[in-house]
Amino acid sequence: MTSKNRVLSGMRPTGRLHLGHLFGALDNWRRLQEAYECFFFVADWHALTTEYADTKGIRDNIREMVLDMLAAGIDPSKATLFLQSRLHEHAELYLLLSMITPVPWLERNPTYKEQQQELTTKDLSTHGFLGYPVLMASDILIYKANHVPVGIDQVPHLELAREIARRFNTLYGEVLVEPQPLLTEFAKVPGTDGRKMSKSYGNAIYLSDSPEQVTAKIKPMVTDPARVRRRDPGNPDVCPVFDLHKIFTPKVERDTAIDPGCRTAGIGCLDCKGMLLEHMLPALRPIYEKRQELATRSEVVQEVLEDGWARAKKVAGETLSEVKAAMRI
Ligand code: TRP
Ligand code: SF4
Repeated sequence: MTSKNRVLSGMRPTGRLHLGHLFGALDNWRRLQEAYECFFFVADWHALTTEYADTKGIRDNIREMVLDMLAAGIDPSKATLFLQSRLHEHAELYLLLSMITPVPWLERNPTYKEQQQELTTKDLSTHGFLGYPVLMASDILIYKANHVPVGIDQVPHLELAREIARRFNTLYGEVLVEPQPLLTEFAKVPGTDGRKMSKSYGNAIYLSDSPEQVTAKIKPMVTDPARVRRRDPGNPDVCPVFDLHKIFTPKVERDTAIDPGCRTAGIGCLDCKGMLLEHMLPALRPIYEKRQELATRSEVVQEVLEDGWARAKKVAGETLSEVKAAMRI
């Protein structure tokens, strides 16, 4: 059985999620779950491809991440939310697909080369790291997902998943469905230092941050560096605070108060940040409060993942049977 409206996406368990994840993925997932049959999962095996030498944080990271997903509105009664490593079917399909995937397809993957050069503190000359896109392909193909919401960096991996699906179908008959990337335009989410928001830069605002913590992070946030004194006019186009206004503050207020106020030095940066917080705190408070509430119920993550596992297993098991029958294995 295939559904034309099936969506699948995964996220590595990096720990607590921040506003970059919220506006880069979760908000989109939350909308998709209303219109599509959605499968969302925590890609813990994928975390191993780069973090295999240090796994002590992984269980906590999974828990924190699921709590954040739920708090951000991923609804287990609408979407199937599961943990990758509970679905052995992914691993079996991964093995079978690895038999038909030419190594040069993996070696020419741009992300593979880039990451090997960038993550120099880790030994990434492993089989698992090279085979990562085959694992990702099996995550997708085992649900016959039509749409995969991902960032632009993941598009080469999706292209590879399509190539693997085609090769499989040519060899054994039409079983697998070619997935399409679902690219969404995301607002730029700067961290408090103006660089891209990232845990490793220490510039992130987390979904689990209290309103007080958010306020304490926004107050010293980097602004237009050329605006040194209160009477200097500023340029919102180069200011990371203004990028946050674009996310949280209504356009009318930006156009009539913030933008001209900044350019004429009519408002100071602290005023500007105060105006931002007036919109930001009410928007984030419900997520924070829901997360606080969820975190007191120790069994909730376990229950959600258990239920998601059972639902995912049905679909994954069915595809795997078809794949094995087609391969006569
Ligand atoms: N590779 C993705 C990332 O690092 C995570 C991921 C694993 C994924 N399997 C997937 C995303 C399948 C979409 C579909 O962000
Ligand atoms: Fe940035 Fe606002 Fe200061 Fe202008 S007034 S530089 S937009 S923080």
